[in-house]
Amino acid sequence: MKPEKQFEREFSRLMNPYPVIETPRLRLRKVFRADADDLLEATSDPRVTKYEPWGPYNREETVQMIENIQAQLEAGLCTEWAVERKEDAKVLGLIHLNKVDFFNRSAEVGYWLQRKCWGQGYATETLKALGDYALSVLKMDEIIAICHPDNAASLRVLEKAGYKYHKTLPGYISLRGNTADCLQYHVTRWDLL
Ligand SMILES: CC(C)(COP(=O)(O)OP(=O)(O)OC[C@H]1O[C@@H](n2cnc3c(N)ncnc32)[C@H](O)[C@@H]1OP(=O)(O)O)[C@@H](O)C(=O)NCCC(=O)NCCS
Repeated sequence: MKPEKQFEREFSRLMNPYPVIETPRLRLRKVFRADADDLLEATSDPRVTKYEPWGPYNREETVQMIENIQAQLEAGLCTEWAVERKEDAKVLGLIHLNKVDFFNRSAEVGYWLQRKCWGQGYATETLKALGDYALSVLKMDEIIAICHPDNAASLRVLEKAGYKYHKTLPGYISLRGNTADCLQYHVTRWDLL
C-alpha cells in the first residue's frame, strides 16, 4: 500500500471515536447543534469575522454552519473542534484542521473565539494543544496557519504557540472585495523534538 494511503487509514482510525483534547482550562470536542447560541456570540460579531472570508452570521446561518460541519465530520471531510471552557461549559469558539494532505502529512489550522474571552490566553492554549496533538498523536509532519498581515492578535498567538513565519502568499485572500497578501506560518514535528 502507498505510504499516503496507509497514513490516511491510520489518520481515520485515530479520528474515530472523535478525539477530545483537554487543556488545563479547555476541552476541545465535537460541535453540536446545541452550541448554536454560544457560537452565535462569535459568528454575529464583525470584530471576530473581520479577517474571515465569511460572516457575520445570524442565528439561522450559524445553525446552517453547524449542520455543514456535522455533515462534513460524518463524511470524514473535516476536523473541527468546539472550544469549551471547562469552568462553565461555555463554547468560546471553534478550531479546525482542514486541507489535510496525506501525502505531505500536513494540514491547515484555523480558529476564532468570541470577543468577551479575548486577551486571556485561550487562543494560545487552544492552538498549542491542537498543534501538539496533530504532530504527536496524529503523526502529522507540519501544521500550517495563514494569517492576514493586519491581524496582529492572531500573529502574536501564532508566535506564542511556537509557529514560525514561512512565506508570504501574494493576493491570497479576498475580504469583502479587497484582495490582500497573507502570511504563512507553520510548526513542524521536528520543532517538538
Ligand atoms: C486571534 C484570536 C483567536 C486571539 O484570541 P485570544 O484568546 O485573545 O488570544 P490570546 O489571549 O491567547 O493572545 C492574544 C495576544 O495578542 C495580543 N494582541 C491582541 N491584540 C493585539 C493587537 N492589536 N496588536 C498586537 N498584539 C495584540 C495580546 O496582547 C496577546 O499577547 P500577549 O499575551 O503577549 O499579551 C481572537 O482575537 C479572534 O478570535 N480573532 C478573530 C478571528 C481570527 O482572527 N482568527 C485567526 C485567523 S488567522
